[in-house]
Amino acid sequence: MSNVVGGRAVLVLLAFLAGWSMLARFSLPSGAQEMGGPLPGEGRSGEDLYRAACSSCHGLDGRGIPQHIVGFDVPLPDFTDCSFATREPDEDWAAVAHEGGPTRGFSQLMPSFGGAMTDEQVDLTLGHIRTLCEDRSWPRGELNFPRAMFTEKAYPEDEAVYTIGVTTEAPVRIFNELIYEKRFGAQNQFEIVVPFMFFDQEAAADGSGPTGWTGGLGDLALGVKRALFHSFSGGSIFALTGEIILPTGNSDRGFGKGTFVFEPFLSFGQDFGPGGFLQVQAGAELPFDPDKAEMEGFWRAVYGHTFTQGRFGRAWSPMVEVLGASEFEEDAAISWDIVPQFQVTLNTRQHVMANLAVRIPLEPDNDRPVEVLAYLLWDWFDGGFFEGW
Ligand code: HEC
Repeated sequence: MSNVVGGRAVLVLLAFLAGWSMLARFSLPSGAQEMGGPLPGEGRSGEDLYRAACSSCHGLDGRGIPQHIVGFDVPLPDFTDCSFATREPDEDWAAVAHEGGPTRGFSQLMPSFGGAMTDEQVDLTLGHIRTLCEDRSWPRGELNFPRAMFTEKAYPEDEAVYTIGVTTEAPVRIFNELIYEKRFGAQNQFEIVVPFMFFDQEAAADGSGPTGWTGGLGDLALGVKRALFHSFSGGSIFALTGEIILPTGNSDRGFGKGTFVFEPFLSFGQDFGPGGFLQVQAGAELPFDPDKAEMEGFWRAVYGHTFTQGRFGRAWSPMVEVLGASEFEEDAAISWDIVPQFQVTLNTRQHVMANLAVRIPLEPDNDRPVEVLAYLLWDWFDGGFFEGW
């Protein structure tokens, strides 16, 4: 069984890579007004360009001209605010500067400069805007790699995620999870995880016990993450997270472990040139009551690549994840899974995303079913769920 599954996994993986690398290129229409002819003055610095092209709205200091002076009521971003500015990758800002606000679901009052400035001039101007946040302790948004289904990222996030997983063999189990993550300070994040599940109960071998569907809350988790190291030029980020899992799920009915569990883990992300990224997570589950649950170590890795439709369009990120876990015991079996998946941005703002995945157990003679999973992710700091479609 496992060889067949392993072969299938490799095929799925190859199909993914072939399919997505051939993605057709489309370009998105832009409703923004265009700025006129080329800007005069070759060889001007980013600051000069900013003064000439952007400061009439964004202000010389980058905080935005007050609304009563600028004459419109769309609030202007504050480029000196590191909490806002650092999380936006250059790519997103370049898209807005080239194509105008609507290309990321913003107001058309943000004009398009694609006709007035060369790519180099846009980059120089954005380079100047980057100097307006002076605090280097905020990790750059470029290090916020696409979220894998299982491997936790190192980047501290403001996001909400709903995940559903369904087993493909009877008895069917439907696992749901709501995650809310909130940043605090430059490098930290708080998170709360609320799992709930539904099982199709099977009677015991002798026909006794309950049957039919049942459901309930699982074990709630609270966690704190801190990015210990991040380097924009090196393309890497490294974080430590501590989670406390509370025994809120009914353990007799299989919804929880029945004991508090401490789960520390490390996570690491590495940029691999245009589009490619690797993320790794390793940690342990340490139950307070060793009679109720086993101590377990786990490690996860994901490699992926982001492709965009056209120059600034929808982002597709096929990824392959490998999961390993084992109890801390001599001769304990290691469970392995491979999880091919892809994430796609759903709206124009690109702050609502979905991921579709298949989790395939790999170790020999396992009796774990294949599971199909999906998540819906909302980067809530970037705007309301229904904004920017
Ligand atoms: C005519 C006024 C105006 C000019 C000139 C202007 N902008 Fe804007 N810009 C705006 C407005 C308004 C917004 C906010 C749009 C919104 O939030 O819907 C904005 C937003 C932006 C954003 C998006 C920030 C985010 O939220 O992610 C970027 C980046 C940006 N401008 C860059 C520039 C650059 C670079 C220049 C000069 C080359 C420039 N702008 C010139 C009005 C202007």
